[in-house]
Amino acid sequence: PSRDALIARLPKAELHLHIEGSLEPEMLFALAQRNGVAIPFASAEAVRAAYDFSNLQDFLDIYYQGMAVLQTEQDFYDLTWAYLERAAADTVRHVEIFFDPQGHTERGIAFETVLDGIERALQAGEERLGISYRLIICFLRHLSEEDAFATLAQAMPHLARIHGVGLDSSELGHPPAKFAQVFARAREMGLHVTAHAGEEGPPEYVHEALDLLQVERIDHGNRALEDPALVARLVGEGMTLTVCPLSNLRLCVIDRIESSPVQRMLDLGLKVTINADDPAYFGGYVNDNFRAVADALDLSPDAIVRLAENSFTGSFLPMADQIAHL
Ligand code: ADE
Ligand code: ZN
Repeated sequence: PSRDALIARLPKAELHLHIEGSLEPEMLFALAQRNGVAIPFASAEAVRAAYDFSNLQDFLDIYYQGMAVLQTEQDFYDLTWAYLERAAADTVRHVEIFFDPQGHTERGIAFETVLDGIERALQAGEERLGISYRLIICFLRHLSEEDAFATLAQAMPHLARIHGVGLDSSELGHPPAKFAQVFARAREMGLHVTAHAGEEGPPEYVHEALDLLQVERIDHGNRALEDPALVARLVGEGMTLTVCPLSNLRLCVIDRIESSPVQRMLDLGLKVTINADDPAYFGGYVNDNFRAVADALDLSPDAIVRLAENSFTGSFLPMADQIAHL
């Protein structure tokens, strides 16, 4: 109970959150009706029942389908605002959220419609909830690097509003090397860089994210633990890992929550953080993730505080703003 109280009141930053993955079944259903989009479900309960995944691709198939209900600027505002209210309830003080422009532009939704709606909600969240933010566009790695370049070009007129680039979607068969050029270009443009690596993919993909993409964070990174030299390198560089325990469980990256690598990573000296990934699909927001691992691994109060501290020092905030949160 005191552990729950600590988690409930601890200030934290969320660094690995796909805004489209915060689309709750109730909102999915409501937006389908509002926009006249046909979905193959009779109710929000039926939608939730379909969220049973045996790997990343299983989930992605449903996640991209769900995006179809997001059509207008107001839809993206409503989606983002609902997430921010949940985040505020979890005492989240800073968010660095991902969105997948290609998941929308390929359906004929303008890049600006998506960006305007998400950003308007983030600004309202800063004013009304006191949550600061950064915004990260993710390239879909199952698409080509040429496609990623086209997305980066769409972001170009909005560089004051976009802070970083990431890499997500189907990992196996789509190594970071495939995106070395577009990440180099993004870095030249002054954008922060991060990439999903080592979720399902091998340690080699984590090496590539570091060497070829020159990322500032690794999203997930679970499979780095298979490579002791890689672990030593991540520790030495103070590299932040954005781990997502309930996501790992629901996507069968781990077989049970007790197998979460969070305590092992802390023991190894890795800079691990706790995040929700796609909370509407994986059964919990950030505090649910903290509670699940804290209970399963019997995390100490010091460990819990360290995880929250890492979330600020691993953020893209300038040092002075990181310190202000600690
Ligand atoms: N897109 C949304 N969530 C993702 C995840 N956990 N891994 C890869 N791509 C994603
Ligand atoms: Zn993710």
